[in-house]
Amino acid sequence: MKDSQFEIFLHLSIKQMIDIISKSFPPSQAIREAKWIQNELPSEKWIDACIKRSNHYPLQYILGNQPFGKLDLKCQPKVLIPRLDTEEWVLQASELLKQTKIDNIVDYCTGSGCIGLTMASELNDVSKIYCIDYKNEAIDLTKENLLINKSQLNVDVEIFKGDIFDGFLPDHELLKNPANKSLLVSNPPYIPKNDLIDGEVETSVLKYEPEDALLGDLEFYQCLTKQLLIPYPAFQAFIFELGYQHQADVVRKILPKDWTVGIRYDSSNHLKNVIGWKKTTDLSILGNMIHKTI
Ligand SMILES: C[S@@+](CC[C@H](N)C(=O)[O-])C[C@H]1O[C@@H](n2cnc3c(N)ncnc32)[C@H](O)[C@@H]1O
Repeated sequence: MKDSQFEIFLHLSIKQMIDIISKSFPPSQAIREAKWIQNELPSEKWIDACIKRSNHYPLQYILGNQPFGKLDLKCQPKVLIPRLDTEEWVLQASELLKQTKIDNIVDYCTGSGCIGLTMASELNDVSKIYCIDYKNEAIDLTKENLLINKSQLNVDVEIFKGDIFDGFLPDHELLKNPANKSLLVSNPPYIPKNDLIDGEVETSVLKYEPEDALLGDLEFYQCLTKQLLIPYPAFQAFIFELGYQHQADVVRKILPKDWTVGIRYDSSNHLKNVIGWKKTTDLSILGNMIHKTI
């Protein structure tokens, strides 16, 4: 092949790119994504990117990043891509939490760091935010995302490798002290096995996102409440993402009556969070996010 022919081959036209992507996606989506690929990637990567996309490889893994709140988060395989519905509750909670001072926020199952880092960029009056995940790839990515977004962060962030089922918690003496007003946030894996196989999970998620970030059920909510909220009285409030009513119910059932617990639906009317606070704390401000107490 001559150099000039090779150049033509390399520089796919937008129409060719749309044709490749629309083998698997509706034309309007293919047009949007082809434009993003052209804008974000050098031309020698366009063919590969379009072919990968037509095989349902996630666009964020192809482009390598995803905006989230004020942050630009790096995305890479083996770590869950941060979702818009997570961004929605994180920003909503941050807006409410701006009205109060918090000693510590713990973001368990942090993945890309999207929840903890965004709260560090939205809030000022927090002493420290801890981001924890059990997976090396997630820890490394959160560290990179912290560095990339350092100029946007107002709060000190520490990142730890730890397994929730081992009861790992940094600074646990501090978190045993009820005077240390703390918040526990988590988006744990919450899709039960049957729903992952037979449910409505998108092909790109099933094929390419890490199963250990998706597959889970009551065990995570039982662990978050029994191993963290109850033994560490510093936690005066929590926000957990979830997908099913029975996951919220188990949290309500385990927590003693001095906790108020409610559920939140997202802007698409999907059940998205279980949220709770101790009756005596000003973190009860989170009650403005819930739609129903349970
Ligand atoms: C649903 S993803 C959430 C990631 C991120 N917080 C977000 O909202 O995009 C769940 C995360 O939990 C982590 N995880 C799974 N099992 C865990 C365990 N036993 N202990 C700690 N983290 C775990 C996974 O590595 C994954 O990053």
